[in-house]
Amino acid sequence: MSLRKNFLWGGAIAANQVEGAWNLDNKGMSVADVATYKPNVDVKDYKAHNTVTSEMIQQAKEDSEIQWYPKRRGIDFYHRYKEDIQLFAEMGFKALRISIAWTRIFPNGEELEPNSAGIEYYKNIFKELKKHDIEPIVTLSHYEMPLALSEKYNGWVDRKLIDLFVNYAEVCFTAFGKYVKYWLTFNEIDSVGRHPFTTAGIVEDKCKEYSLEEAIYQALHHQYVAAAIATKRCHQLIPESKMGCMLTKLTTYPNTCKPEDVLLSLQSNLDNYAHADIQIFGEYPPLYKQRLQNKGIEIKKGKEDDQLLKENTADYLAFSYYMSRTESSDPTLEQTSGNTIMGVKNPYLPSTEWGWQIDPVGLKISLLELQDRYNIPLIIVENGMGAKDEVTSDGKIHDNYRINYMKQHIKEIMDAVEAGVDLFGYTSWAPIDLISVSTSQMSKRYGYIYVDQDDLGNGTLKRLKKDSFYWYKQVIESNGQKLD
Ligand code: BG6
Repeated sequence: MSLRKNFLWGGAIAANQVEGAWNLDNKGMSVADVATYKPNVDVKDYKAHNTVTSEMIQQAKEDSEIQWYPKRRGIDFYHRYKEDIQLFAEMGFKALRISIAWTRIFPNGEELEPNSAGIEYYKNIFKELKKHDIEPIVTLSHYEMPLALSEKYNGWVDRKLIDLFVNYAEVCFTAFGKYVKYWLTFNEIDSVGRHPFTTAGIVEDKCKEYSLEEAIYQALHHQYVAAAIATKRCHQLIPESKMGCMLTKLTTYPNTCKPEDVLLSLQSNLDNYAHADIQIFGEYPPLYKQRLQNKGIEIKKGKEDDQLLKENTADYLAFSYYMSRTESSDPTLEQTSGNTIMGVKNPYLPSTEWGWQIDPVGLKISLLELQDRYNIPLIIVENGMGAKDEVTSDGKIHDNYRINYMKQHIKEIMDAVEAGVDLFGYTSWAPIDLISVSTSQMSKRYGYIYVDQDDLGNGTLKRLKKDSFYWYKQVIESNGQKLD
């Protein structure tokens, strides 16, 4: 079995990491506009990079500069989207995953009318994609919720967020339904637990009547319910549409075959799956419910929540995969980092400079597990390697390390499909260099297209094709057959 003819080859980006134009055309401030570049903090120290306090928010609101706030400037996709989409088309993209910045549509999240400039902007993007026959895959919330909602409600802890999000989603379905068939509700919904502010607008020092942990599970519950209602409305407003849920696939191995290690890895995998279980099976898994109860966490539910979850499940499962991790009962073992998750170092795997362990076979394992567990269509919406690139004197970028990474992963994908996995697309992260979500660096590059900009925003923003650009073009042309 090989890949289907209309396999959705492409790339994935997110508004807050590419658009820039953070305060243009009535856009409101989002949680991403608070993130600063911290050159003196170890890039592997994700906690230090991702903790946000009320004081930091206040400071960010008073600062209007963009040098130390890289997500405010992105790579100027806002003005250069035509040129960038043209380059994606040149590589033969069949799909582009983008996100909509909620704050372009509702700057503070609570306006009565949407911002027409924001609607116009995304319509133009969708028209441009259509011109090149590129299918959009659209995430409604990718780490860019309105900052005002974080400040007023402590983000998703408050049930009010469900209505506000659904209203925003409905505006998007109505305005863009003509152009967009594939939708996603929340990017990596499970990440609320890892970076509560970035994903759900939760600020720890505002957790007064509840603990941070309670806030996280309550916010997650509100997001599941909001996703269920959005799924229902999406199907009603765009009959042909497909609404997916998205998981960070955190494949965890036992560090040894010691039963205690196996148990820890099992627990870790079950915790990860729970987020997809709820959105695909339509209910909280019994063991997960008990686990919350044992922690003393009581989720406040609305009367109809359980029914909403049951009746409005996801049409497909999208997931990101960058690395695997291991669990061990031995606390003295060396840790490694990755995607804001720590794990015990796997001695069999190499790591990137950021400590993310490279494991192509883990992607096949993940695909097989997910297919077996959920048996619904799958799509890989993020996979890629962050690396430092060098431009040679003749303006070339020889990124064979990236080609190797992608090649090995795509090979495992082909094997998994051969084994029967129902995969309908692959959008790598990211087809063009952009601002890193975890460290706000520009120098952590993922693209097939190089962007001339450094960590402090110096550079011409000129786009250059890396060696991987030509390689990926050939992969798409041959539908995954020509990997060398
Ligand atoms: C994923 C996010 O978790 O990881 C992306 O959805 C992010 O937004 C990607 O960019 C890579 O992480 P980083 O920290 O290298 O940008």
